[in-house]
Amino acid sequence: MEDSLRAMKSGNPTQQRANQPESVEISRDLSAIEAILNKHNRRRTALIPVLQEIQNSYRYLPEELLVYVASALSLSSATVYGVATFYAQFSLEPKGKYVVRVCDGTACHVKNSPAVLKVIRKRVKLANGVATTPDGLFTVETVACLGACGLAPVMVINDQVHGQLTAEAAETIIDELLARESAEEVAA
Ligand code: FES
Repeated sequence: MEDSLRAMKSGNPTQQRANQPESVEISRDLSAIEAILNKHNRRRTALIPVLQEIQNSYRYLPEELLVYVASALSLSSATVYGVATFYAQFSLEPKGKYVVRVCDGTACHVKNSPAVLKVIRKRVKLANGVATTPDGLFTVETVACLGACGLAPVMVINDQVHGQLTAEAAETIIDELLARESAEEVAA
């Protein structure tokens, strides 16, 4: 698998031929991937929506599946890898159940987004330099601008936008998510 990924990143066609999906061992159940590919009629032009749906399923793009998708869409592995690494929406690393994006663009920064970020990282107990909590519940990131400067400071949790935040308001939002998770854990 290491060789396969190296070839994919290098774009070396000789190596890629030697790493066709049939020779790559993928231990996971591929039925969900097949359903996504079939839904898009295995069209090359559907690469981005295919990757989006795979990421929605796994919360990231497992590299071994990029090789599989490349073969299914008759694209080179380098092309698929290039798209997956070009767009910020895609991640090759596992993300948390809640992806918290705190804007640190100029408008948000001057309205104290660093304090919002600080309280969130503290509340979810993220160690320095780490983006995802060990339990896989939260990923906390900063972004340059979310395009909602009028609502500064802004954060997005998954698809939900929270604007005109204070550190206290952000903490309350995170506490609500933590409480929800605890309740679900107890009910399970
Ligand atoms: S700077 Fe934060 S939304 Fe634009």
